[in-house]
Amino acid sequence: MKQGPNLHQLQRAFADNFAAQCGYCTPGMLMAAKALLDRNPSPSRVDVIEAISGNICRCTGYEPIINAILAAAGGRASA
Ligand code: FES
Repeated sequence: MKQGPNLHQLQRAFADNFAAQCGYCTPGMLMAAKALLDRNPSPSRVDVIEAISGNICRCTGYEPIINAILAAAGGRASA
């Protein structure tokens, strides 16, 4: 996505919302989130849950990831 100080809004939202712990699932979550926001810039919570449903996260319990994606969609730094 992006590197350095100018991270993509999704990367920034994941960091701000503690949506990555070990980071194993993070690339897939970010790609799923980007694909969702590319086709639906204002997703509902259900849309987000459905979009990331193919990815398993053993660390976060999903709530921080969902909140990060919704925050990125809303243009906010955090949920
Ligand atoms: S952050 Fe560890 S599996 Fe998702």
